[in-house]
Amino acid sequence: MTEAYQIVDHTYDVVVVGAGGAGLRATFGMAEKGLKTANLTKVFPTRSHTVAAQGGVSAALGNMGEDDWRWHMYDTVKGSDWLGDQDAIEYMCREAAPAIIELEHYGLPFSRTPEGKIYQRAFGGMTTRYGEGIAYRTCAAADRTGHAMLHTLYQQSLKHQAEFFVEYFALDLMMEDGACRGVMAWNLDDGTLHRFRAHLVVLATGGYGRCYFSCTSAHTCTGDGNAMVARAGLPLQDMEFVQFHPTGIYGAGCLITEGVRGEGGYLTNGEGERFMERYAPSAKDLASRDVVSRSMTIEIREGRGVGAEQDHIYLHLEHLDPNIIHQRLPGIAESARVFAGVDVTRQPIPVLPTVHYNMGGVPTNRFTEVVAPTADDPDHVVPGLMAIGEAACVSVHGANRLGSNSLLDLVVFGRAAAIRAAELVKPGQSHQDLPAEAGEAAIDRLDRVRHAKREVSTADLRLEMQRVMQNDCAVFRTGETLQHGCDALQASWSKKGGLGVVDKSMIWNSDLVETLELDNLMIQSVATVESAQNRQESRGAHAREDFSERDDDTWMKHSLIWVGEDGKVRIDYRPVHLQPMSNEVQSFPPKARVY
Ligand code: FUM
Repeated sequence: MTEAYQIVDHTYDVVVVGAGGAGLRATFGMAEKGLKTANLTKVFPTRSHTVAAQGGVSAALGNMGEDDWRWHMYDTVKGSDWLGDQDAIEYMCREAAPAIIELEHYGLPFSRTPEGKIYQRAFGGMTTRYGEGIAYRTCAAADRTGHAMLHTLYQQSLKHQAEFFVEYFALDLMMEDGACRGVMAWNLDDGTLHRFRAHLVVLATGGYGRCYFSCTSAHTCTGDGNAMVARAGLPLQDMEFVQFHPTGIYGAGCLITEGVRGEGGYLTNGEGERFMERYAPSAKDLASRDVVSRSMTIEIREGRGVGAEQDHIYLHLEHLDPNIIHQRLPGIAESARVFAGVDVTRQPIPVLPTVHYNMGGVPTNRFTEVVAPTADDPDHVVPGLMAIGEAACVSVHGANRLGSNSLLDLVVFGRAAAIRAAELVKPGQSHQDLPAEAGEAAIDRLDRVRHAKREVSTADLRLEMQRVMQNDCAVFRTGETLQHGCDALQASWSKKGGLGVVDKSMIWNSDLVETLELDNLMIQSVATVESAQNRQESRGAHAREDFSERDDDTWMKHSLIWVGEDGKVRIDYRPVHLQPMSNEVQSFPPKARVY
């Protein structure tokens, strides 16, 4: 098959796949350490989905009130509903302040306090003194923090002469004897195929929000790295935990930052009631996202929604000083005007919980190395492979991520990957030859899809899958809805062989790209709904109506799922790391959740 395609060979010390916040931080960190570093990215770096992050990045700087990284760590463990790995959480929270100061020195244009310090706002679940008060911990560049971060990190990558392969679509990993040896990619612009040999491949390919019909994620968020890992015969972890952001714009799904509630915004139901006071008397509108999304869903289900169909909720900020909105929330004022026709200084924004983030992904240790259990080692490292950012499950977010911990995860673990890579690889270190058949499986798959007879359209099958996920694997789940989802997705899977493309060319063939992306999404939809069916408890974002309690005796463990070529799955488990990484902080044992 390889003869039918033009293949270009490359050799690098390290190849990073993805140029969002995590990918860029890793890329320039590795280049800075003298490693010959390539970055492959499906879109131009500054168009990566990190650009859409709004509210901010957490760090216990204490610029606007007392704070401590241990309190941040406690909040993150609690927010994760005790599924997060406490060694990784300790690492993230204690590295947060230096990571933010580093970004400031790189030139990230943070908003400022009157004294000139980095401005910090309140965010859901972020507290002082282990839950006593509200923490002002989320560092913000107005409501465009991701945009500012992405541009800053891209500038650093250019400064350190990392090599970018832009609009390259990664197809599959090249594996040999259980180790990763490189990655295959397709140059969308000229149709050539590329075989990248590297000592390390770092997956920074983001989440898979597009498995759902309504999400805040870009169309590009198809979890390509997760799918490559699954095709390599490795497991994905904790895929049942999908975060719904409470405030997606009703109808359009675009994000309205939690920063709105951090600045004093609040939610009301159809009776004009501030209902969060009933569900979370202490945290109210700033309870964690899983709690707020469930409360909104209950209000709507019980007939207290707003609008003609009583099927959404109002978010108010018309009581805020217009100058505050202008300075700190200009982006959402524009989004609300464009997508909901609302002037936020006068009217509430219609909102609905919308899929926003995947807590699950490729399992890694806190050094960002991919792990896959063996009979005697639950933390066995897969040589040559790393994962970071939303693609990874490190697991700092456990069953539910706190808002503003995502941008933090990107920079802290992007940097950790660079540190680890420099320990593992010496610049210019010699490479073994690749096996003669390296990359052939990836080319066969591409060729099969490209030349298949078209019996079903990509758009139709994608919509079918997205509707199943939206209906059967939603904020609330039951064994019955999940089983329906499992069966429906198996039926969709059996139609995959009939996917084909009309356009057979290799240059900017978006039909072929979307079909390969759908193939990736299907793997992750199956992994998500099957893992959710399997976990018979409620924890974090996984709310089972038929198992409404958290069950630490049976279920305080990470789910691992392998998805086979036939769409059938195998499930196993890994222990949660309950011990922190140092003795400077105690382990936080599980507690009942009080809001
Ligand atoms: O609401 C937001 O601004 C989103 C932040 C996040 O997901 O961390």
